[in-house]
Amino acid sequence: MAAGKGTRMKSSMPKVLHPVGGKAMAAHVLATAHALGARRTVVVTGHGAERVEAALRQAEPELNLAFVRQEPQLGTGHAVQQAAPALADDALVLVLSGDVPLTTVQTLQALLAAGQGQALALLTLTLPDPTGYGRIVRAADGAVQAIVEHKDASPAQRAIQEIYTGIMAVPAQHLKAWLARLDNHNAQGEYYLTDIVRFAVADGVPVVAHTITDPAEVAGVNSPSQLAALERACQARRAQALMEQGVRLLDPARFDVRGELRCGEDVEIDVNCVFEGRVVLGAGVRVGAHCVLANCEIAAGAVIHPFTHIDGEATGVRVGTDARVGPFARLRPGADLGADVHIGNFVEVKNTTLGAGSKANHLAYLGDATVGARVNYGAGSITANYDGANKHRTVIEDDVHVGSNCVLVAPITLGAGGTVGGGSTLTKSTPAGALSVARGKQVSIANWQRPTKKR
Ligand code: UD1
Ligand code: CA
Repeated sequence: MAAGKGTRMKSSMPKVLHPVGGKAMAAHVLATAHALGARRTVVVTGHGAERVEAALRQAEPELNLAFVRQEPQLGTGHAVQQAAPALADDALVLVLSGDVPLTTVQTLQALLAAGQGQALALLTLTLPDPTGYGRIVRAADGAVQAIVEHKDASPAQRAIQEIYTGIMAVPAQHLKAWLARLDNHNAQGEYYLTDIVRFAVADGVPVVAHTITDPAEVAGVNSPSQLAALERACQARRAQALMEQGVRLLDPARFDVRGELRCGEDVEIDVNCVFEGRVVLGAGVRVGAHCVLANCEIAAGAVIHPFTHIDGEATGVRVGTDARVGPFARLRPGADLGADVHIGNFVEVKNTTLGAGSKANHLAYLGDATVGARVNYGAGSITANYDGANKHRTVIEDDVHVGSNCVLVAPITLGAGGTVGGGSTLTKSTPAGALSVARGKQVSIANWQRPTKKR
């Protein structure tokens, strides 16, 4: 179910597309359905339907997805009624909500197991404050009799702390028959899906409750504050899972993964780091405080010093074994650093490969360049890769030494072992082994008199 408006989000974006852990809430739900091996996944859309459908098709292209529209939204029973024609008669239907992203596959497997494909299986939870939720009404022998919505509940029923989480498993054949019997004669004038519990009891179909204890698994999002709370819950889970793998997080509460982070052995991550997209950290990698790493692969032993920003976007960034990056470095798409490369403070690297042992330690720009091994690239030097219309490549062969404050006007090749004098603006390629200097010759005029102010 993903038709709801989410008025309290006060956002132009449909609620179910708001991200948790870098992924739309409804996409989490689809990924869970996928992991459960769902034969078919039917999404009920309404508010922002076109946007939701486009986003979800992209999120889970492998799922056998079907979309049905619910216009207007007349309640959860009405929502599932729209989906009914898309459900095979021999299906087992699992009802999930697009704004409840953190339900685990294990919990749902347990729910399915409890129902055994025969019963109406309800996922329930006991809450100290059950206000607002549907209550699980049981008979003296404990058998589930009904779900009563908060607004329809008597004072005695409101005292019940066991609530319906909004998740159920039900054989399609029963579900379809019961949906046809729903009415909206209740406090909210809605078609309640939860009324099918009464029908099951009347028809002698067993109703089982599978009870869980972690509220985060079934928590929905109605407001930015609830979204933030679930984001923390999601991050806490991810941090816990990584620590169980041996990753050392200096503070799991100051750690964010908005995508997928894979780590080798002995990885250490300092506080306030954000990982986005697909990030791989090899064995022994250390990431300093306040780094943002997106779509990159950091090889074993490399150290990323504090305040470094790495964003590989679509192309990716690779950092080689034992390399040193930062503090305050910026690696952009196509940066490919070899082993033992050093990239220091305020150095920007884009679409550039650097061979083993090369160093650019201070205040420099390397864009669209192929840099060999053991190159030293001086402070303040830049590749002038853009002529205003096109980008051109700079090639710096092995063992070149570029002094400080040089401008390398591309296209240009610096021959192996060459040296470039500081302050040079090079527009022509240089021969191997040569010293190249391209700047005004230094002149000193003896006893120079500075001009004086006219009176
Ligand atoms: C529902 C349950 C309640 C349970 C609670 C758990 C019913 C009648 N009540 O409450 O017992 O404790 O969930 O959170 O089912 N939706 C649609 N179309 C609609 C109405 C809702 O798609 O016409 C979607 C919403 O976007 C949401 C989900 O269904 O994703 C649940 O709706 P919501 O209004 O949050 O739940 P309640 O009806 O309040
Ligand atoms: Ca409602």
